[in-house]
Amino acid sequence: MLQWEDIYYYEKMPNLDFSGEINSNSILIKGPKHILIDPGTAKGWGELKEAIVADGLDPMDIGVVFCTHSHPDHAEAAVMVAKQVKADLLMSLAELDFFVMGGARFYYLNSDGTFLSMQGNMPVYDVPDTRLFIKGFPGPFIYEGRQFKLYLTPGHTPGGMCFHWPERGFLAVGDVYFKGTIGSIALYGSQPSQMYKSVTLLNGLLDVEKVICGHGPIIEGREKVVKNYEILFAEIADKKAKGIV
Ligand SMILES: [Fe+2]
Repeated sequence: MLQWEDIYYYEKMPNLDFSGEINSNSILIKGPKHILIDPGTAKGWGELKEAIVADGLDPMDIGVVFCTHSHPDHAEAAVMVAKQVKADLLMSLAELDFFVMGGARFYYLNSDGTFLSMQGNMPVYDVPDTRLFIKGFPGPFIYEGRQFKLYLTPGHTPGGMCFHWPERGFLAVGDVYFKGTIGSIALYGSQPSQMYKSVTLLNGLLDVEKVICGHGPIIEGREKVVKNYEILFAEIADKKAKGIV
């Protein structure tokens, strides 16, 4: 649904306990060609596509599919969607390296290292073909006359990237943080100290007043954004005190 001018937000049911299928929130930046951020799971694409159409947008006008990071709940559908709508695929070079060097294990291993099972509601993911991705670098990202910025924000994964639209005070943070907590730093490829630096970097973006996280609710209003960082830094201080670095 239209959340703010030219920014569409598709909220997915939060299910962070890994007992079943999880799916990330998706974002569409409307333009002459649209940018789809975090398409989510392959199974969820049909529903997402319907929601995009219901908003009066043509999925065939998506020009870029950007993944904040390689986890399947954010990126499984990426290759399929890009092929279907003939869009370019974008993920950070560091994340693509991570994926090839073992990050893809998320697509077929449970968090305890056992193989994903077809039994129950445990999903079995399609491993995206990373050769089809354009290597993304931090810095300005100019697309169809609009100026965005990409930031390398490792910690949850080694090459996560955040998407900033300074003109609109908008930030998509993937799984770097959510409302009230930082993202997981206990996963394969996670690095707590890098996560703390990434949160500090994002806190430095003083124009941000609209945040969409990979899961859970949006954070809207500069005051709420600032308040959320206070909560995150308290959590970080607590983790550091416990020796999680
Ligand atoms: Fe993630």
